Amino acid sequence: MTTLPPTPTRPVDDPDARAEAARLLRGGALVAFPTETVYGLGADATNEDAVARIFAAKDRPRFNPLISHVPTSDAAFALGQATAGAERLAAAHWPGPLTMVLQRHPGCPIAWLTSAGLETVALRVPGSAAARSLLAEADRPIAAPSANRSGRVSPTTAAHVAEELDGRAALILDGGPCPVGLESTVIDLSGDRPRLLRPGAVTREQIEALLGPVELAVEGDAITAPGMLASHYAPNASVRLDATERRPGEAFLDFGATVSDADADLSPSRDLLAAAAKLFAALRVLDRPGVATIAVAPIPTEGLGAAINDRLRRAAAPRS
Ligand code: TXA
Ligand code: MG
Repeated sequence: MTTLPPTPTRPVDDPDARAEAARLLRGGALVAFPTETVYGLGADATNEDAVARIFAAKDRPRFNPLISHVPTSDAAFALGQATAGAERLAAAHWPGPLTMVLQRHPGCPIAWLTSAGLETVALRVPGSAAARSLLAEADRPIAAPSANRSGRVSPTTAAHVAEELDGRAALILDGGPCPVGLESTVIDLSGDRPRLLRPGAVTREQIEALLGPVELAVEGDAITAPGMLASHYAPNASVRLDATERRPGEAFLDFGATVSDADADLSPSRDLLAAAAKLFAALRVLDRPGVATIAVAPIPTEGLGAAINDRLRRAAAPRS
């Protein structure tokens, strides 16, 4: 077994440490940083290889869409389409522990892996001033889920992050204990009516005071379970898994150069990290008029392969 070298920890209030963190983020590395809610494991949201490293570092079994963090409301509304409600919420609660799901702007540079293939993006302007300085210096949206291994409790101190992810991030920025300690409120403003996807420090009552009635759509709710499934990206073409040859009318998505007439290969060298990074973008490219079915070569199930296969099974599942 290889032992990873420990991750250095530096104070977030040290401008040199933030400059190093911003440089690392721009180079595609992972940096853990404090926000007012919980510590995030950050990566360049526009770089799908960097975002794939987040899923690998967390041992995340599936590709849930991630929040992109930006330093100002203007930066957020350059990526996602503002609505009147979104502007009202931003004026009252940004910077702060609130995430808005908005329709992507055409040309939005956020990688498809970051949004799990969805046409919407989740955006947050964190309340922590040090976090906003880091984001301004990184000069690109930073995807950041909580900085813990999948299935474990979110970290609210730098020591928790080191326990969870030692050796898996290039740098941990320490800002002391997180004042909120609970992940941000997530509100979906991309549809006809606002829907509360995750409760948090900005309460439903505070949101309703600005927007009027808000639907509750908390993950795991019987009512929203089908919606949660539907929200996962499925191409227009059907998807055939574990394919070993290309049939008429199919586009072939290979892994490891198994056929000679593939339209795309997730990784000719069988690198799961590279395959994860390319998956959603590749499905989009192959999902074009005239393609009835996307045939996908078998992908190993270990490591990140579990997440890749989970997403492919969802894409291949019968449509309602
Ligand atoms: O407080 C927080 O929000 C922390 C700190 C680090 O900012 N971040 C965090 O990120 O909790 P994450 O990636 O663990 O939470 C993302 C949440 C998930 O519930 C996900 O399903 C939802 O946001 N989400 C992200 N993008 C979405 C989208 N396009 N549509 C619907 N839900 C989305
Ligand atoms: Mg989490």
